[in-house]
Amino acid sequence: MALIGKDISSAKTFLEKGELVGIPTETVYGLAGNALDPEAVALIFETKNRPGFDPLILHTSSTDKVADFITSFPEALKTLAGHFWPGPLTLLLPRKEIVPDLVTSGLDRVAVRVPNHLLTLALLEALPFPLAAPSANPFGYISPTRPSHVEDQLGEKIPYILDGGPCTVGLESTIVGLEDGEVVVYRLGGLEISEIERLVGPVRIKDHSSSNPAAPGQLESHYAPRKPFVLGDLKQMIEGKKAKGLDFAVLSFSETFDGLERDRQIALSPDRNLHEAAKNLFAAMRQLDESPATVILAELMPEIGLGKAINDRLRRAAAK
Ligand code: TXA
Ligand code: MG
Repeated sequence: MALIGKDISSAKTFLEKGELVGIPTETVYGLAGNALDPEAVALIFETKNRPGFDPLILHTSSTDKVADFITSFPEALKTLAGHFWPGPLTLLLPRKEIVPDLVTSGLDRVAVRVPNHLLTLALLEALPFPLAAPSANPFGYISPTRPSHVEDQLGEKIPYILDGGPCTVGLESTIVGLEDGEVVVYRLGGLEISEIERLVGPVRIKDHSSSNPAAPGQLESHYAPRKPFVLGDLKQMIEGKKAKGLDFAVLSFSETFDGLERDRQIALSPDRNLHEAAKNLFAAMRQLDESPATVILAELMPEIGLGKAINDRLRRAAAK
């Protein structure tokens, strides 16, 4: 079983031995290994049961350190890094040879980010190498936002989980790159598009659907609970399920429903705050997935700000 603690030197020792450690970030927990050690990177893929064509994000403690792994830093992306690192932004940049092929799945760009979590920044500062870290969940399942989520699913397979408490953002980083001088967003995430556009002007959102193996985080079915997860109008769906006598659970934006047991419903933000909803989303999906209900009914958020990224996750959870 994994030890859970706040001891950076234990985490460092395991990582230096080529082992994997669960690390906290502001977005979700990561399953981290030495990004420059192909064996440690291979172990990440094996532990997550992740297909090798799905590349990993390299984490460092500063923008300066990123220079060791890339051949150039286009101005627009540098501007974004300057404003949002440390933070929920991942940049795709032309990679140097030193980055193992396994990290990038052979692509010529490497994904890099400086996460905003004090424990992990201190760990990265202490380590002589960057960390490759996908979300610490089995491939395709809901991302972890608490140490216990990592422990439940990967606890048997890794020696240590660095306990940084619940994640403050709760959605994965927004992934951004440059194509022919145009800023492109490849994954909606914890950094809002409007924040990016404020600095670099209009961006293109690349809608990767079902079968694009170049960005499988964008596979249509992803972030998925095991139970059927159905999106729609909650009131209507609740009536329908009640009429059929089915045991269901409800995930709403803000509303709670009369006549439904407390453990069968979660409102993501009673105050209708999208940041709060994002922060609670994955823990709520897990909790309902573990409840005795046989189906989870959910509704979309308003399609503004972080609501877009939350809806992206909800749609993928429902696409099975
Ligand atoms: O917030 C996050 O980004 C979290 C924390 C732990 O940092 N990490 C995370 O990693 O979400 P992961 O592996 O679950 O998702 C990374 C996504 C994948 O969809 C992958 O396809 C894409 O980033 N990606 C990574 N490297 C890439 C590359 N070189 N080119 C295109 N896409 C890339
Ligand atoms: Mg993931």
